[in-house]
Amino acid sequence: MTTTTTKLKTDSNARETGASASASPSPSPIKVKLSPVEQTMLTTLKGRADDAASPKPILGDVQAQKILDRVDLDDGGVSPSLLPADPRYSHYSAARAKQLDSWCLDFLIKAQVQQAQQAKEKGKKEEEEKSEQDGGVGVTVLHLACGLDLRAMRVRQACGEGGVEVNVQWIDLDRPEVANVRRRLIPDPDASDISVSPPSPKPSEVNSKEKKSGEVILSKSSSSSSSNWEYKLVGASVFDEDWLEELVPRDRPLLIIAEGLFPYLAEEQALSLIQRLVDHASSTGGHGQIMFDTVGTILTRFHCLMPLYKKTGIKMAWGVDDAEKQVAGKLKLKANKAHSQRRWQLRFVEVTLLKDLLPGRFASAAPPCLGVWTPLFSLLPSWRTYGQVLRFEF
Ligand SMILES: C[S@@+](CC[C@H](N)C(=O)[O-])C[C@H]1O[C@@H](n2cnc3c(N)ncnc32)[C@H](O)[C@@H]1O
Repeated sequence: MTTTTTKLKTDSNARETGASASASPSPSPIKVKLSPVEQTMLTTLKGRADDAASPKPILGDVQAQKILDRVDLDDGGVSPSLLPADPRYSHYSAARAKQLDSWCLDFLIKAQVQQAQQAKEKGKKEEEEKSEQDGGVGVTVLHLACGLDLRAMRVRQACGEGGVEVNVQWIDLDRPEVANVRRRLIPDPDASDISVSPPSPKPSEVNSKEKKSGEVILSKSSSSSSSNWEYKLVGASVFDEDWLEELVPRDRPLLIIAEGLFPYLAEEQALSLIQRLVDHASSTGGHGQIMFDTVGTILTRFHCLMPLYKKTGIKMAWGVDDAEKQVAGKLKLKANKAHSQRRWQLRFVEVTLLKDLLPGRFASAAPPCLGVWTPLFSLLPSWRTYGQVLRFEF
């Protein structure tokens, strides 16, 4: 695996040059055979692609369409009619992705500040200098169920543009078949930097709706940035035993991100997974955050009305309405029941309601995910939490 010492930046020349062509995915479509659950990554990818093509993109990830264009689904694949062209779906996917990008960037900024402070407090001149030179010992970002999402590249670009210099070990993980497809479609960001320009998320701009989409620029970047990014793509199930111990260090801050994963797990599976990840990371006093999206019980009960789920048989199982109680609270109970020796350390930080991120008025801005019944459902109190993004720390 290679380690880069470069910072992403836009390079207008690269648009016409071989640098762009050599790093971009080759144009030929790739035959892809995926299970229905794996295919859900195409719906979110399409959401980001449609967002980038819209007059007022929220996320502006202009690579998404290029990747989507190359996916040639084997028969039995997701029918285009299951990928609704309604802009409210793309608003939803893009706003959710942008919120998570923004929190991720926040985490990296704080890690940078903390490292500098720790070095200062210790009064070790040498360490302080080292921290400034190479971005400190760094953090690990574990991006579960990455699908074909370019979060690593978007966040890295935002760090470059914002002068955030911290060493990052980034691990993208998805099922083996998805990882294979991803490898064929998306260049290794260590070999080439992918820049989606503009916009790039800044913490304060997560709700901004007036950004313009820009060109995708694929270029070998060169800059004086002192941060190192190390990238790994892992083909495994989140439930597999080995990868966590083998790949995720316990001695540095850990950020866990999962977008579009937890709604499909049963509650017990979801809570056990969170418990396992947090236990691993905090067993030697480590700390970090976990952030992910959930759907409310209104969707787990009625998602059978949605074409995607009706036709594929995919089920959304874990509905969350009260994030603090249903995640941190239940995990604490679980640990108490098991007479865990260690104090359970997951603390609720914040929740963002998807409805607050979407442009337009609440009910009319929401994706019509329950078909013609959506306006009626939107009158129920539980509609408020139909989509949420949660952040916890440990
Ligand atoms: C809705 S997609 C989201 C993909 C990506 N996060 C995005 O936003 O575009 C759900 C993803 O979860 C992955 N997934 C489902 N079960 C998984 C498991 N047990 N282990 C790893 N990934 C899983 C699927 O393969 C798929 O890529």
